Amino acid sequence: MSLNIGLFLILCLTALALTNGERVRFDNYRVYEVNASNREKLALLKQMEDTSDSLLFLDGVHKINRTVKVVVPPHKVSDFLLVLDVNDIDYNLVEKDLQTALEKDYNQIATRATTDQWSAYQTLDFHYSWLRSLASSYPGNVTLIEGGKSYEKRSILGVKISLHNGKKQKPGIFLEAGIHAREWIAPATATYVIDALLTSTDEQVRELAETYEWYIIPHANPDGYVYTHTTNRMWRKTRQPYGSCYGADPNRNWNVSWNTVGASSNPCSETFAGSAANSEIEVKSLSRYVDSLKSVVKLYISFHSFSQYLLYPNGDTPELPDNVKDYEQVYNVTLKAISKRYDTVYTGGNIYDAIYPAAGSSVDYAYSKTGIRMAFCFELRPNGSFNGNGMELPADQIRPTAEEILDGLVAMVNEVKVLGYFD
Ligand SMILES: *[C@@H]1O[C@H](CO)[C@@H](O)[C@H](O)[C@H]1NC(C)=O
Ligand SMILES: *[C@@H]1O[C@H](CO)[C@@H](O)[C@H](O)[C@H]1NC(C)=O
Ligand SMILES: *[C@@H]1O[C@H](CO)[C@@H](O)[C@H](O)[C@H]1NC(C)=O
Ligand SMILES: *[C@@H]1O[C@H](CO)[C@@H](O)[C@H](O)[C@H]1NC(C)=O
Ligand SMILES: *[C@@H]1O[C@H](CO)[C@@H](O)[C@H](O)[C@H]1NC(C)=O
Ligand SMILES: *[C@@H]1O[C@H](CO)[C@@H](O)[C@H](O)[C@H]1NC(C)=O
Ligand SMILES: [Zn+2]
Repeated sequence: MSLNIGLFLILCLTALALTNGERVRFDNYRVYEVNASNREKLALLKQMEDTSDSLLFLDGVHKINRTVKVVVPPHKVSDFLLVLDVNDIDYNLVEKDLQTALEKDYNQIATRATTDQWSAYQTLDFHYSWLRSLASSYPGNVTLIEGGKSYEKRSILGVKISLHNGKKQKPGIFLEAGIHAREWIAPATATYVIDALLTSTDEQVRELAETYEWYIIPHANPDGYVYTHTTNRMWRKTRQPYGSCYGADPNRNWNVSWNTVGASSNPCSETFAGSAANSEIEVKSLSRYVDSLKSVVKLYISFHSFSQYLLYPNGDTPELPDNVKDYEQVYNVTLKAISKRYDTVYTGGNIYDAIYPAAGSSVDYAYSKTGIRMAFCFELRPNGSFNGNGMELPADQIRPTAEEILDGLVAMVNEVKVLGYFD
């Protein structure tokens, strides 16, 4: 039987109906895990991912025998399952009403000030006021930085933390989070790291704060983040319009092997690479900012979620970095440190093999184009099981996530130092 039977049914356009000022609802939308066991089945899934306007692929389709999660609207379920059945592709229902799961997420956005900022997910406005307050509470030690502007003209705001302690020209560490809008745990963790660098009394964290200058951008995609709060929890991309679809994947838009592998040319796809490298103003301006720091920054870090991976270059080729032995060593000690507090297991490796080919990412750009020799990407909690929790972790896991990552950063920075990259 034809591999493509029924596929046309799924590909018919059914854009999400949206009334102004309301959130997109996902009532009775289902989430399936699917798994292609050979090349032909993989090609079929890939075709669906590339061309369907109604299916939302939460993971890229790149590897045989690797599970990907797909959101299916209720009126497409029978067609979708028909295609899978006819083609003998394994699937598993992991969520039968996405709306219920997403409401749990919305209920965990802080609506008023709490004594513990990390007991809930915060709005962009909250984070930005907080960053500004740090600059006035720690004059000279904390400076506001701007990685550029977003399409909707928001600032890509961050802080530089460089403590005045008599040390001249300290090596720089760059930390960027939130480039994918729906990965809320990433900005939450980045802001926790900022707070720890300023207030922690732990000796090792003090050492991190005193020895380096930190450039931290918690929201590399502010428009997308706001959009996940106001309109569509599942949003990942930027918000620049492309015909009837919106946004490019800002972690496929950097000027490094742009759109060669693991990205899409379809503006409706979750991994749309944009119309050209740097077509997204967020990426264009942030990469220019990173360029301006290339003689200072020795370690580049990017926070994403989820799956509990620690990743290093390359994403655009299976070729390993020439300093892969060093990467492995840093990777090993970091994983060990992350597991120490709560037994949390991370895995990973080079992006291309550990997860999937992905060209045009920020860590590849940092590594290949700026001469920053150490560049890592963290995919934070959860481990990848859907657990009925929507896109996000329950808010009571923000702190444990951030604590274990801070443990990991202490170990990572120390190992990068031992290997001489800060000299
Ligand atoms: C994928 O899994 C199938 C079924 O278990 C197996 O026959 C096949 O060899 C696997 N292929 C790869 C590339 O791992
Ligand atoms: C995907 O299929 C392969 C081969 O059948 C199997 O080994 C693997 O466990 C499956 N993965 C998941 C998450 O179901
Ligand atoms: C800036 O940091 C230095 C070194 O930690 C500290 O001695 C100083 O008091 C700080 N200044 C402010 C205004 O916090
Ligand atoms: C991308 O980088 C190349 C050099 O590697 C440069 O020639 C080109 O102009 C850049 N493209 C953009 C859009 O910045
Ligand atoms: C990292 O750990 C793995 C697994 O324990 C080991 O095989 C490898 O040799 C280690 N690599 C380095 C460079 O320490
Ligand atoms: C993922 O985490 C959940 C909750 O902590 C746990 O129940 C599950 O066994 C984990 N799955 C894997 C594959 O580690
Ligand atoms: Zn991401």
